[in-house]
Amino acid sequence: MAQRVSGCPSGVRAAMTAMVASYLVLLSHLAAASSAEGLPSSPNALEKLIVTEFPGASACVLLLHTKGQSGCRGTAEKVPLMYYSDRVRQNGGAGGDVVLVVEEENLPEFLANLASNGSSLAKSVKGGLIVRGKGGKGRPSSFSPADVFPHKNFAPYTDGGYEWNPSGLGLLRTGRAWPPLYVLTEEESEAFREMAEWNRAKGYRYPQYVADLTTEMLAADQANTFECLDKSTCLPIGGYSVASSLPPPTPASASGAAAVDDECVLVLAQVGDSNVFHGLNKGAESSISGMVAAAAAYEAVARSFKDRGVAPSRRLAFALVGSEGYGLSGSRRLVHDLGNASHAIAGCRLSQVSFVVEVGPVGLAAPNKGGAREYYLHWTPGAREANQSIYSAFEEAADDSEGRAVLRTPVGTPGIPPSSLMSFSNHSNIRGLVFADFERRVKNPYLSSYMDDGENYDVSSVYIAAELVAGALVKVAFDGDDAGQRIDRELLNSTVVGLSDCLLTSKPGMQCDLVQRVADSYLTRASLYPGIVSYEAADDQNPNDKTDLVRFLWGYLATRAAGLADLSDVGGAPPCDYPSGKLKCPLAGQVCARWRSQESGSKSKNGRCVAANVQYAPAWSHHLTYTVGKDGYGKWGVNGTAGAILDEIWTESYWPPYTPTALVYMKEGFAYELGLFLAGSALTVCWFYAMGRASRHIAKELKQT
Ligand SMILES: *[C@@H]1O[C@H](CO)[C@@H](O)[C@H](O)[C@H]1NC(C)=O
Ligand SMILES: *[C@@H]1O[C@H](CO)[C@@H](O)[C@H](O)[C@H]1NC(C)=O
Ligand SMILES: *[C@@H]1O[C@H](CO)[C@@H](O)[C@H](O)[C@H]1NC(C)=O
Ligand SMILES: *[C@@H]1O[C@H](CO)[C@@H](O)[C@H](O)[C@H]1NC(C)=O
Ligand SMILES: *[C@@H]1O[C@H](CO)[C@@H](O)[C@H](O)[C@H]1NC(C)=O
Ligand SMILES: *[C@@H]1O[C@H](CO)[C@@H](O)[C@H](O)[C@H]1NC(C)=O
Repeated sequence: MAQRVSGCPSGVRAAMTAMVASYLVLLSHLAAASSAEGLPSSPNALEKLIVTEFPGASACVLLLHTKGQSGCRGTAEKVPLMYYSDRVRQNGGAGGDVVLVVEEENLPEFLANLASNGSSLAKSVKGGLIVRGKGGKGRPSSFSPADVFPHKNFAPYTDGGYEWNPSGLGLLRTGRAWPPLYVLTEEESEAFREMAEWNRAKGYRYPQYVADLTTEMLAADQANTFECLDKSTCLPIGGYSVASSLPPPTPASASGAAAVDDECVLVLAQVGDSNVFHGLNKGAESSISGMVAAAAAYEAVARSFKDRGVAPSRRLAFALVGSEGYGLSGSRRLVHDLGNASHAIAGCRLSQVSFVVEVGPVGLAAPNKGGAREYYLHWTPGAREANQSIYSAFEEAADDSEGRAVLRTPVGTPGIPPSSLMSFSNHSNIRGLVFADFERRVKNPYLSSYMDDGENYDVSSVYIAAELVAGALVKVAFDGDDAGQRIDRELLNSTVVGLSDCLLTSKPGMQCDLVQRVADSYLTRASLYPGIVSYEAADDQNPNDKTDLVRFLWGYLATRAAGLADLSDVGGAPPCDYPSGKLKCPLAGQVCARWRSQESGSKSKNGRCVAANVQYAPAWSHHLTYTVGKDGYGKWGVNGTAGAILDEIWTESYWPPYTPTALVYMKEGFAYELGLFLAGSALTVCWFYAMGRASRHIAKELKQT
């Protein structure tokens, strides 16, 4: 009895000693990190001090389509960080809850593991933070979340087992969503590795760094697009295509296009791809290489038409197609709209389209032994035989390249590769070809991943492709009678190099001259995500609801249509209010294009009237309906059922405020906190004992006195 009264139990004292020791470790670590600010005065201050946010990180968010969920949702709270590689080494991935820190080289394996049924890893993983190497260093040799046959559901042939993309992991449509995943920026990755290393050095025992990840999504309980649109917890992924035809209309004269007959050749290129982390969507090789080549060819062809001074016998309609990463949404919509006899894209109706030339991936054509780069023409069945003149146009353009390019026809493929042309070739009997840098397998090791960025792209390969396409298109337009018309190679090269810099770098990125002269954008990194469409705009030609990139493409096509020898001559064109002020363009056949004069203060108006047949075209499914209810609120719906419609109709979930977020901080752990609680209670008890003894003592003394 006396012993117990004499002091606190020794076990508690030992726990307290251990606790104080680990506290000291923690404090000394913190002191090292924050010596300037001094030591924190309370645990709360302490916690605040070490919480690190990752504002630059890109989250995977919840997307839905007609057949399920895709992407990420969920919350992780105070879950310890662990390297993926260490987790796999221990019990093959099983264990307590963790947020995994994944080096890029392990990312394909990690995601495949996460997606596989019955994986022991998937059960305990509450989130993932992907850390990146500098300038693309440390990347895996391939990482493609796309399917082995991307867009196979839209293929105009039955061999769905063909592997266009052998490294495809099939992760874009997972069926069920994943836990929160973030890709950190290169700078954030540096800071972050230090924390992960601390946990590793401590043998993953407390005190250690833990993460709070919030990727709560309002559509989490909805199984697919039909349900979330019905519950108004998501919005359709929208986007626009941009189209323009050459030659441009002759302003004012109603009969201006008389020399050009009805026929037109449609030139297609895709704008952007999809990706698990769609904020990082670039699609450099998969789509931007072809788009840059097509856009540069458009300018060169317009210049060539102007120089020749004779109207070509065939019109060329260019369409830069948006939202293709989401179930070929843009091209499927384009075909549908073109099919309506009262709709024309850039003045061209479906019945007038005599051929389709798609500029596909062209950024990875490597020189062969002789130094020539090899490109492939993938024809729809019978097209090469039926359209010899098109074949010869490309052959002659390759000859003009003076050995820098050779053209081949693929052997051993089941038909055209995954492309926008697929949407056309199943429709009526339009013939066409896909021009690409690959034969039987895509060259791109990073198809539909954020690693398909500027590092995965060879500007020279894009330039030579642009030269071939431009040369061939001029011949096609004049139907072989091009009178030895030359392509302005210098112009072509500077545009290819310029567009690549604007769209694939962050310096200058969208702040480049090429963009800034014809569009307003505060962005540096071009965003290629099409974005959501919140309501059905009354006027789909209004630039205000378009993304910066799409507005730029419109402005680019508009100002290049006339083929001016000196682009700055646009500055001398009649002024107008861009986009929709009082001052309109006076003549039919003109549009008001944004123009920033380099001679400052010369003209107050921000637009110029240029002759062009340029237009925006919606890139979301025509099965989507928008209705405004009695309450005045609009609502999206789908006219059809999952069984009846082929469109994938991708939607993006609404996010709650302050989502998604990622923070990481030092935490002492459950055992420690329990110890703290017990020690705290013990201390209280001890204190009461002491009080009791003291007062008894005092009382005794008092009594004694
Ligand atoms: C995973 O399991 C679900 C049902 O539990 C099944 O529908 C699906 O086909 C499985 N996926 C794989 C890849 O085995
Ligand atoms: C292609 O056409 C066939 C026949 O009309 C149709 O059954 C099929 O669903 C179409 N496929 C696509 C992807 O449109
Ligand atoms: C064709 O387009 C016109 C004009 O936009 C529209 O009124 C009509 O409903 C469309 N027809 C079909 C069959 O979609
Ligand atoms: C391609 O061939 C088809 C079928 O013969 C023909 O209708 C079409 O006009 C041709 N297109 C061109 C551009 O020659
Ligand atoms: C294209 O332009 C770039 C940059 O100005 C230059 O480095 C490159 O040599 C040019 N390529 C050709 C083929 O002219
Ligand atoms: C719904 O689809 C059907 C058949 O595809 C069509 O006839 C009908 O006009 C559509 N309704 C609306 C409101 O778009």
